[in-house]
Amino acid sequence: MQFRIPTPLVQEHEALHSRLVLATKVPGPVGRVANKLAKLMDPHFTKEELFALPPLVLLPALAGGKFSPEMSGVLELTDQLEIELPGMLAEHQKIFGVLQELLAAGETAGDTATCEFAGQLMHHATVEEQVFYPAALLVGHWVKEHTGRT
Ligand SMILES: [Fe+2]
Ligand SMILES: [Fe+2]
Repeated sequence: MQFRIPTPLVQEHEALHSRLVLATKVPGPVGRVANKLAKLMDPHFTKEELFALPPLVLLPALAGGKFSPEMSGVLELTDQLEIELPGMLAEHQKIFGVLQELLAAGETAGDTATCEFAGQLMHHATVEEQVFYPAALLVGHWVKEHTGRT
């Protein structure tokens, strides 16, 4: 069974990534801070797309009371998320720090678009911490219970 990230989340990551690439090309401090941010974001996005977000594709089926044994394949992903979560939350803290710098650089330059982008990325990371990561872990717990695995 393939676990594909729900389309709106793929689109959100793509939009944020394109916006970040744009910011890295701005001359001066905004571009410099955006490049620093990109170095943190790229490996972080990769991990999210590998194992943190794909389990969410099972939410509609599980919420509808549907379960099939092939779903147990998701445990490989959710187990990895459980192990990597503290590190990923620490990455968010670093990302938040650089986003504050980006916000400051954007404000100084009068670059409203970059300031808005920084705000969107903060919102994105907060939603992940409060909703997506816990929901992905819940998928794992639920599937474990239904497959009798511990
Ligand atoms: Fe993300
Ligand atoms: Fe994230």
